[in-house]
Amino acid sequence: MALERTLAILKPDCVRKQLIGEVLRRMEAAGFRICALHMQHLSRARAEGFYAVHRDRPFFGSLVEFMISGPCVPLVLEKENAVEDFRTVIGATDPAEAAPGTIRAAHADNKGENIVHGSDSPANARTEIAYFFGDLSAD
Ligand code: CMP
Repeated sequence: MALERTLAILKPDCVRKQLIGEVLRRMEAAGFRICALHMQHLSRARAEGFYAVHRDRPFFGSLVEFMISGPCVPLVLEKENAVEDFRTVIGATDPAEAAPGTIRAAHADNKGENIVHGSDSPANARTEIAYFFGDLSAD
């Protein structure tokens, strides 16, 4: 199977809880190679742009407020079957439903503040990687 890339974001709660190292360790232990990583404090426009697909959802406002509440760390991960495998490693959106041993089960507080983002399809991974890292999605 060919190598694949996915976009992850260590969200502001991950940074606030000083879990950057712990979550990166879990990613590397699960076989992902970290290709790019850049801590940044998103502007409202950048957060709204990233989550534009959710613009009409009731949680959009709180999601954007949360994502601009402090710095976050977008990163690009690579391995075979990266998109699907990373979704498995992070667990369900709602930590109450996340499988034991997943990042969200271990560290997330709720559906809104759930430590980490992972692209949900290879097509979205390419779009999301390009959003933060330009042409790295095409390598
Ligand atoms: P993420 O993988 O970053 O993609 C969209 C985000 O919206 C998701 O993680 C959650 O943090 C957030 N989200 C999804 N559903 C809800 C919800 N019902 N209430 C609050 N936030 C949500």
